[in-house]
Amino acid sequence: YGDSNQKIDYVFKVVLIGDSAVGKSQILARFARNEFSLDSKATIGVEFQTRTLIIEHKSVKAQIWDTAGQERYRAVTSAYYRGAVGAMLVYDITKRQSFDHIPRWLEELRSHADKNIVIILIGNKSDLENQRVIPTEDAKEFAQKEGLFFLETSALESTNVESAFLTVLTEIF
Ligand code: GTP
Ligand code: MG
Repeated sequence: YGDSNQKIDYVFKVVLIGDSAVGKSQILARFARNEFSLDSKATIGVEFQTRTLIIEHKSVKAQIWDTAGQERYRAVTSAYYRGAVGAMLVYDITKRQSFDHIPRWLEELRSHADKNIVIILIGNKSDLENQRVIPTEDAKEFAQKEGLFFLETSALESTNVESAFLTVLTEIF
């Protein structure tokens, strides 16, 4: 059954942030439509997609917002974060810079979003193990220190994408 005539108990807004090309849009495509594309184009402005799930016998509409990692394509920051109850902070396990920028993204998030927002740190592209430059332990340690959930995902192989969203949505709940 689709969600056209389904009763919705909750709508949760979740935002995706992180450097360009870490895979935010493909994580969303995997979660919302079970699709993946290798020639994904850089996002311009803001897009969102929804998926309705049942969590603890309630129907929850997850409204996932996706924006550009590239500064010049980003939309107004405050509007992006407004009303968000969850955030996914994404880096690429094969790109040192994308992990080094995480504190900056976290700072932006904390200065614009609600203080109770649920945050998960995501190391994406776990399928590229042979190109890994960020050890799992380093990210785990950072997440622990900052009080964030943490998972490594692969949008390509569909690893942990569902779990990452469920971790956030269940915690909001
Ligand atoms: P911006 O929109 O510019 O902020 O980038 P983005 O974070 O949305 O990145 P996008 O989802 O467009 O993915 C960038 C590139 O990485 C594309 O070529 C994707 O196919 C690829 N990609 C995304 N996720 C994965 C993954 O899990 N594994 C691998 N191997 N490639 C991935
Ligand atoms: Mg994108």
